[in-house]
Amino acid sequence: MTAPPKPLSLSAERALSGTVSVPGDKSISHRSLMLGAVASGRTTITGLLEGEDVLATAAAMTKMGAVIARGDTAWTVDGVGGALLEPESALDLGNSGTSARLLMGLIAAHPITATLIGDDSLQARPMGRVTAPLGDMGATFASRGGRLPLTITGAAQPMPIEYTLPVASAQVKSAVLLAGLNTPGDTIVHEGEVTRDHSERMLRGFGAEVEVTETDRGRTIRLRGQPHLSGQAIRVPGDISSAAFPIVAGLIVAGSRVTVTGVGLNPTRTGILEALGLLGANVGVSKDGAAGAEPVGDITVEAGPLTAADIPARLAPLMIDEYPILMVAAAFADGDTEMRGLAELRVKESDRLAVMAEGLAACGVPLRLLDDGIVITGSGGRAIPGGARIDSHLDHRIAMSFAVLGLNAAAPVLVDDARPIETSFPGFAALMQSLGVSAHVDDQER
Ligand code: S3P
Repeated sequence: MTAPPKPLSLSAERALSGTVSVPGDKSISHRSLMLGAVASGRTTITGLLEGEDVLATAAAMTKMGAVIARGDTAWTVDGVGGALLEPESALDLGNSGTSARLLMGLIAAHPITATLIGDDSLQARPMGRVTAPLGDMGATFASRGGRLPLTITGAAQPMPIEYTLPVASAQVKSAVLLAGLNTPGDTIVHEGEVTRDHSERMLRGFGAEVEVTETDRGRTIRLRGQPHLSGQAIRVPGDISSAAFPIVAGLIVAGSRVTVTGVGLNPTRTGILEALGLLGANVGVSKDGAAGAEPVGDITVEAGPLTAADIPARLAPLMIDEYPILMVAAAFADGDTEMRGLAELRVKESDRLAVMAEGLAACGVPLRLLDDGIVITGSGGRAIPGGARIDSHLDHRIAMSFAVLGLNAAAPVLVDDARPIETSFPGFAALMQSLGVSAHVDDQER
């Protein structure tokens, strides 16, 4: 990032109230650009998230031959119809792990070479989880220690694999399935814990044959290789991961009532609603439609007392990105909230377990950090002390979580840098202001 850091703090002088809609779902936005880019014909996308992560995917697909344009009402993607071109320069994926891992999958089964680069946060993230199965399919990799910068050469004759995910990761599952697209025969992935299934749903929409069988030991996904994919009209629902911020804000500021409309309610993403329910939150959901294969609805919350609860580890893959903001809700519950099964949080845009624990402690929230979880002692609704400057470690969700925490703090919570918020939630501060929050943005600081 070349621009100077932009510190941000939020405060609430009164209850929050209003109806808002949040930007498009990040996972679905990435996938719509990628599948549109390899399909034949034109894909139109409305509601695309115009955040930095998704724009990095668009730029990468353009370098590999797709023609992508932003129109007045929709984005258009004219696909390459199968064969990706070799990019002439490095693919810069910024902060985006989803771009890096899913693109490696796409490239793995094309006979091209590409170099993937990213920011300091992305360069610290493990890629071995995708290079291992993609290597089995015939791709080769050059990197230092399995991290970015990394050069991948796709297989000229890719081989289908049957792969059991060693970690609950939709990115790894999707990388293997995307490689399976240009691979003869059936590519099969077993997942012990169900992870977000946007890839499976969208692949079917583009015309691929995807068979999913579910047992009490998880799901098996079988993709028939070399399908004909045709361009589609895609409507991207609002991102529940972004909606979680105004939702928790509405829960922790007394007297608030907040509605978020048009949110994606895919059951592999709604763990946060169940977790907030366990805390006794007043959350109403109306499922009122669908955007293609994705269910959509409105979420309304009213502030009220929250009660501590044990958040079961089985929810982790269904709400992995929402733990930072759930921890903020837990900071206002009455009693000790325990969350387990969170080892994956340590390899996100930052080590989210450590960074949340550090920031909450600095704000005077009592907690105990565990190897794979955290126990947070909530204030029972009273303002937490606050009065800290938070190092958000180039992590958008950490930055937004602490900005929300500051809404019920005795002294301001200053987030060191709001710039990473652009990766997933452009307009975050303005949306919060529209609910009645005051935002203090200091872009003078150097
Ligand atoms: C994503 C999957 C999740 C999530 C990320 C987006 C996706 O990562 O944290 O923000 O779009 O598939 P993992 O698959 O590594 O859990």
